[in-house]
Amino acid sequence: MEQQLDRSVSKVEVTGFEARNYDLLMNLITAGTYPFFIRRAVREMDIRPQDAILIFGSGTGRNACLMTRYLSTEGRILGLDIGPEMLEQAERRCRHLSNVAFEKRRIEEPLPYEAEFDKVFMAFVLHGFVQEDRLRIIANARRALRPGGEFIFLDYAHFDPAQSPWPVRFAFRLECPLATDFARRDWEAILREEGFGAFRTYRHYFGYVRLLAARKQG
Ligand SMILES: C[S@@+](CC[C@H](N)C(=O)[O-])C[C@H]1O[C@@H](n2cnc3c(N)ncnc32)[C@H](O)[C@@H]1O
Repeated sequence: MEQQLDRSVSKVEVTGFEARNYDLLMNLITAGTYPFFIRRAVREMDIRPQDAILIFGSGTGRNACLMTRYLSTEGRILGLDIGPEMLEQAERRCRHLSNVAFEKRRIEEPLPYEAEFDKVFMAFVLHGFVQEDRLRIIANARRALRPGGEFIFLDYAHFDPAQSPWPVRFAFRLECPLATDFARRDWEAILREEGFGAFRTYRHYFGYVRLLAARKQG
């Protein structure tokens, strides 16, 4: 029986023990491969030294820290999150970096950024929202991007979890049902309708995870 897909089933708001130990848990769940995977994904973002990067759901600041390796002092990063434990870790981790800042903001609500970022990045966040909120987030990303800027998300690729090998089916039983809905959708087609194109795709974890970069058109 299909579970109802409303906001109440989402697991995207990470708090308590899981939030305090998020990086360690990701390393364990991926059998120690996460640090190598995320470094590769950040390399695939194709960051330019002067880029202004907005991160939706910046978590513990791990990704922001990795991105600064590619930035000069003229580049900058702004991370948005709502989790107090996540924001606290991110601020502690990046306190020595003058071009990195974090703000407490809901990414599905209207945001005050207009044509000021070269990249909007999100990792394992978009799948945790209902489709209506995902479209709001994508509209926020488009508004925040300069013409020609890229919306980049790292998340589940396009496949049907129910038709996948048993380890994948098992993993998706533990994930929130919104993740199954996310993986079944054709995100390139959706992003094209929302004003993006010139896609770049990089696959990870046997093709079940991908980094999808979509350029703002028009
Ligand atoms: C699964 S974690 C991913 C964290 C980080 N992107 C990473 O890959 O390490 C989801 C993150 O999204 C944040 N989040 C959840 N709902 C949010 C919202 N409505 N607005 C902003 N951040 C949100 C959570 O606090 C958490 O840090």
